[in-house]
Amino acid sequence: MLPSVDFAVVRSKLQRWYRRSQRDLPWRRRADDPYAQWLAEMMLQQTQTATVIPYYEKFLNCFPTVETLAEADREEVLSLWAGLGYYRRAHLLHEAARRVAFDLGGHFPDTVEELLTLPGVGRYTAGAIASIAFGRRAPILDGNVSRVLARLFNIRERPDTPAVKARLWELAEAVLPKRNCGAFNQALMDLGATVCTPKNPNCPGCPLLGNCQAYRNDTVDAIPPPRKRSRVQSVSMTAFVVLAGDCVLLRQRSDDGLWAGMWELPSAVANGDEMASVAEEVLPVSMARRRVDMESIGSVEHQLTHRSIRFNAYRVFLKRVRLPKGYRWTKLSNDLPLPSAFKKVLLLATDG
Ligand code: ADE
Repeated sequence: MLPSVDFAVVRSKLQRWYRRSQRDLPWRRRADDPYAQWLAEMMLQQTQTATVIPYYEKFLNCFPTVETLAEADREEVLSLWAGLGYYRRAHLLHEAARRVAFDLGGHFPDTVEELLTLPGVGRYTAGAIASIAFGRRAPILDGNVSRVLARLFNIRERPDTPAVKARLWELAEAVLPKRNCGAFNQALMDLGATVCTPKNPNCPGCPLLGNCQAYRNDTVDAIPPPRKRSRVQSVSMTAFVVLAGDCVLLRQRSDDGLWAGMWELPSAVANGDEMASVAEEVLPVSMARRRVDMESIGSVEHQLTHRSIRFNAYRVFLKRVRLPKGYRWTKLSNDLPLPSAFKKVLLLATDG
């Protein structure tokens, strides 16, 4: 069935609106730098714009080119990423930078097909880079764009089923203009982020009001339909805050699983409050022996997308000793390279 929306009209109204109303975002000032676009898109994959901006600027300062990122230690990359979440992205980012710098002579692939061969780059990210940095006629579909299109065409089914997704990708491609697809894609993103929002959309302020099939059918609030709640798994962990002077003990996590390769406060999953056995498991032997000195300092909860973790925390003050491999002493500061969950635990131990 042909959609009863005039694409040409939608294009020109959206383009005009974008020229007036586009958000001022740091990567937009470097639209022709594929490295800067790729970095932004990797960070934006699961994270909100406002959270990404300071990390993006920090990364570009430290690693102004793909070569500098490729040559960095993985540790350094993970530590700059700390707090942004979904740490697998940081590993993929580093791997892709190495691929571009060392195997491709520093040249970013410039087609969707080739971009898709980079670690961490899926169809959305490839489309965004190809259209924004290389001016290709490539569609994008993320949560924002998907909601805009679903409302525009009054598609009432859940957008994450394969059939509906395929239809939305088709529309995302069909609606593209011949030229300036990068700006057009970003206009769709901005409309979804600022006007056609999930709750309380600003329909009177929308440039596409007169073309919107959902508005005409009074179904805007029903699109997309509510998601079935996915179960959140509850987990208990025991964590140790080992303090020596102005330093805290950190331990490097294994290379797979949650927070892969990141530094943490020594901790492990513990069902029930098995402090002694977790101490044996995660602390250097000399410290595990000091467990009688460990003081229980309460607990904090941290939410991840599908997990709710309750940390039972213990604190001990020790002398600074030499550490086995995989541990380090780090000066206490507000800027430790730790996932946010551990920063909360540390606050419990050092506050007041
Ligand atoms: N979200 C994902 N990519 C984006 C971009 N290029 N601009 C704004 N928000 C985005």
